[in-house]
Amino acid sequence: MRLILLGAPGAGKGTQAALIKEHYGIPQISTGDMLRAAVKAGTPLGLAAKKIMDAGELVSDDIIIGLVKERLLEPDCKNGFLFDGFPRTIPQAEALVKAGIPIDYVVEIAVPDEVILERMSGRRVHIASGRTYHVVYNPPKVPGKDDVTGENLVQRPDDSEETVKKRLRVYHDQTEALVGFYKKAAEEGKDNTKYVRIDGVGDVKEISRRIFDALDK
Ligand code: AP5
Ligand code: ZN
Repeated sequence: MRLILLGAPGAGKGTQAALIKEHYGIPQISTGDMLRAAVKAGTPLGLAAKKIMDAGELVSDDIIIGLVKERLLEPDCKNGFLFDGFPRTIPQAEALVKAGIPIDYVVEIAVPDEVILERMSGRRVHIASGRTYHVVYNPPKVPGKDDVTGENLVQRPDDSEETVKKRLRVYHDQTEALVGFYKKAAEEGKDNTKYVRIDGVGDVKEISRRIFDALDK
């Protein structure tokens, strides 16, 4: 199974990816998590990416495409994978086509911008694992404070209201075009790719049920 999870920042891609990867036994390839790991490790890529991420803008296509291609060479990707936050521009999607990497399902998680703003302000993350919580909707062991490991949770630096608004603008300007790109590919029967649109408003379990219902068809 080769899947793309498409959706605005805060649509719940990471939250649903954690459930989908368990269900199908495929790795989650989150370009956001990969970049955050590079930032934490202080690599040259991380240093360059941090400024761009904190500003809510997109890292260059060349860098992202290079990262993803390298990741796909790892043996755990042989039987499929789940992209979370990639592709995010038309050139990134075209790079997959050029590399001959077919996609079985594109799953769009649709959530209105006003709901997203509320979700982002309550998001807390466990840095070591990337696990994501919400102080109200998906609370950790001690709400807003502890992960299962007992480690403190933090807010992502790009989750300030101003940066979230910027990221939403970038999504509408540069990423939303992928909806049309993949719907067209599905209509034309390219690589047998299927396009599924999921209403992303509702509780986490209900949304994962909607996704699994659509994928099991
Ligand atoms: P990335 O890490 O990909 O961030 P994003 O796309 O902005 O998405 P988020 O991780 O913010 O949201 P999500 O959809 O995963 O939602 P989540 O499940 O956490 O990218 C970060 C940055 O890296 C980019 O801005 C860019 O600079 C760079 N980058 C990454 N990939 C790139 C690429 N391909 N090209 C160029 N640059 C790239 O949920 C959000 C919150 O809501 C959580 O608190 C969660 O608990 C809660 N929640 C989830 N589901 C529900 C629900 N159903 N009901 C209520 N609350 C919910
Ligand atoms: Zn995410």
